[in-house]
Amino acid sequence: MSPRGLLITLEGLDGTGKSTQARSLAAWLRRRGLQVRHTFEPGGTALGRRLRTLLLRGGEPEGIPVPEAELLLLMADRAQHVAQVLRPWLERGAVVVCERYADSSVAYQVFGSEVDGELVERLNRWVTGGLQPDLTFWLDLPVGQRLPGAGAPERDRIESRGEAFFRRVREGYAALAARYPERIVRVEVTGKPRRAVQSELRDVVVRRLGERLQELGWEAPVRR
Ligand SMILES: Nc1ncnc2c1ncn2[C@@H]1O[C@H](COP(=O)(O)OP(=O)(O)OP(=O)(O)O)[C@@H](O)[C@H]1O
Ligand SMILES: [Mg+2]
Repeated sequence: MSPRGLLITLEGLDGTGKSTQARSLAAWLRRRGLQVRHTFEPGGTALGRRLRTLLLRGGEPEGIPVPEAELLLLMADRAQHVAQVLRPWLERGAVVVCERYADSSVAYQVFGSEVDGELVERLNRWVTGGLQPDLTFWLDLPVGQRLPGAGAPERDRIESRGEAFFRRVREGYAALAARYPERIVRVEVTGKPRRAVQSELRDVVVRRLGERLQELGWEAPVRR
């Protein structure tokens, strides 16, 4: 449970529409009179932006991070993000909409890169201080499929990993969704226009978080 505000996270493979949906969800919540902060990992702070560059570019001039280094860079990003962005906004009573969070490390590092699961969970708990999302959307699209709106992919270092890697990551998300059914909602995005996906997300938000949103100042739309 978050302090005061609400934390909503979006998860899923690259190019599944997280940024598109997060932007739209944040705008909708803002129109309802709520304080909203839209943010993302890795890279949601000044330090995080530098870490993101180290994580995602091809390797020059620093060299390619080994899996252990990659894990710790991601955790450093998360620690800073929780302290500088997530907690302060949640304490102010905001709704925070965050693209990627601790589940990404389980899906990508544990399932994808086969790093020890207990270690990753322990690091996640440590850097987040136990802060859990109130609701998580897993935007699911089969590996190898791309959304029709997406142009030719310009892949970063992690996105350039092979199909077997992404299959494992997707299995990771499936395992997480099975483990936390009260928190994680799988949303099938295959063949759905942006607006259809967005309206599913809004329905779930209202159904699951309606009462908490009222407490935070949710204003029903004015009827004309
Ligand atoms: N439902 C949809 N139907 C068709 N195209 C879509 C849909 N949702 C998003 N797109 C397009 O697909 C592309 C990927 O979407 P977006 O950037 O939101 O995904 P992402 O999950 O944030 O990706 P990344 O992991 O690269 O940050 C964009 O070009 C976006 O305009
Ligand atoms: Mg994105």
